[in-house]
Amino acid sequence: MPNTYGTLCSTKTSQAWLDIIFIIDTATSMSIRKLQQLSGELATILKDFNFNQNGDHTIRAGIIIYSSTFTTLFELNNITNFAGFEKVLISLSKYYDAHDFESNVYGALDAGYRLLQIQKSHRVPLIVLVSATYNALGFKGTSQLSKSIKGNGTNIVAINFAPENSDLAIALQNIVSPTYYYVSTQDDLDANLRYAFTQLNCICPSDYKQFRLFNPAWNNYTNFADCLSGVPGETDPLIANTICNANGGILLSLTNFQIFNFTTDIVIPYDLKGVKKFSIGLHKSDFDGQWKWWNYDGSETVMGDYPTMSNPDPNDNYGYMWNYKGLNWKLQTGNEVPLPYICQYKACDAENFCENLKFSQNN
Ligand SMILES: *[C@@H]1O[C@H](CO)[C@@H](O)[C@H](O)[C@H]1NC(C)=O
Ligand SMILES: *[C@@H]1O[C@H](CO)[C@@H](O)[C@H](O)[C@H]1NC(C)=O
Ligand SMILES: *[C@@H]1O[C@H](CO)[C@@H](O)[C@H](O)[C@H]1NC(C)=O
Ligand SMILES: *[C@@H]1O[C@H](CO)[C@@H](O)[C@H](O)[C@H]1NC(C)=O
Repeated sequence: MPNTYGTLCSTKTSQAWLDIIFIIDTATSMSIRKLQQLSGELATILKDFNFNQNGDHTIRAGIIIYSSTFTTLFELNNITNFAGFEKVLISLSKYYDAHDFESNVYGALDAGYRLLQIQKSHRVPLIVLVSATYNALGFKGTSQLSKSIKGNGTNIVAINFAPENSDLAIALQNIVSPTYYYVSTQDDLDANLRYAFTQLNCICPSDYKQFRLFNPAWNNYTNFADCLSGVPGETDPLIANTICNANGGILLSLTNFQIFNFTTDIVIPYDLKGVKKFSIGLHKSDFDGQWKWWNYDGSETVMGDYPTMSNPDPNDNYGYMWNYKGLNWKLQTGNEVPLPYICQYKACDAENFCENLKFSQNN
């Protein structure tokens, strides 16, 4: 299970803090039944969130419908409680237009993003695009537009209500934040969306790298609640740890290959370009002399069998990684060797509210 590789993101929907814009197709390829399915499924998921205009751990949502034109049915600023939003959500089928064959998805996406800007809040912005209609003109430019939306910190999820249409599938996959693409017919849609919303509420401030892993079996990513930041220069690891602590973090807990690979692939080239040695949180405990890692809560965990340690000198008290040849690294120990280091911080997530964030992007 990937779950053991890092700190899990909170999955507590009732604590989430999101601004979600639902952009919903009402043209002919949708149908009254599909709109009813969508309303029911979304209401079932969203009733577990805490809808409110105020409060840290609350969400707001808006609805834009589109066919050849687009209309805002509900704005973020209209939110008072779930019941008010639900009322509009369950009325969606009444906007179905069997005679409209067009899809102004570009206009609707652009309007959705602008609504998020105009009615901005402290919450994490998110767009959920629902589509059943493909036409080349309507999708023209959406790949580029979505790039700039995502690049500015808003993730995009898509639900395809006509999965048999391969043009539509490709167009939507070009819009979404990598792998946040769902189809209306998948039987675990409810659980997947619920989880996706809390995963997308799990973020790092920009300038930090969020630990995430690709799951080849499922073709999706798991975000972890760990934000990594490399600091160059030469600092005594004891002092480095104090500096990480001062901001609520710890020296990197490099307890498995996955986080090591992420560190050398994503953190080193970005924060510590060319660095051949860096300090990690492996240290000889003051308490009992055992080699341990730090945890966020100040407690310690005894070292496991990763990474391989070769007979440390009795005077050694800190671990560091050494890029001794090509792409090969190994664990070394020393006595407070001043080196660059990597701090690790707990991510912002449903249960861990962060104010005034500029969010980093995973895409
Ligand atoms: C939402 O708010 C706008 C602007 O305040 C208002 O004109 C509109 O009637 C509201 N819509 C709903 C559904 O409450
Ligand atoms: C952010 O949005 C602006 C305006 O739409 C766009 O020009 C810019 O490229 C976007 N930034 C990123 C990083 O995509
Ligand atoms: C990835 O796929 C698995 C299997 O369908 C699912 O359990 C998990 O929730 C998915 N992750 C995300 C972020 O959607
Ligand atoms: C290491 O990480 C990179 C990028 O995060 C990934 O592409 C690669 O598959 C990973 N390698 C292994 C062996 O897991």
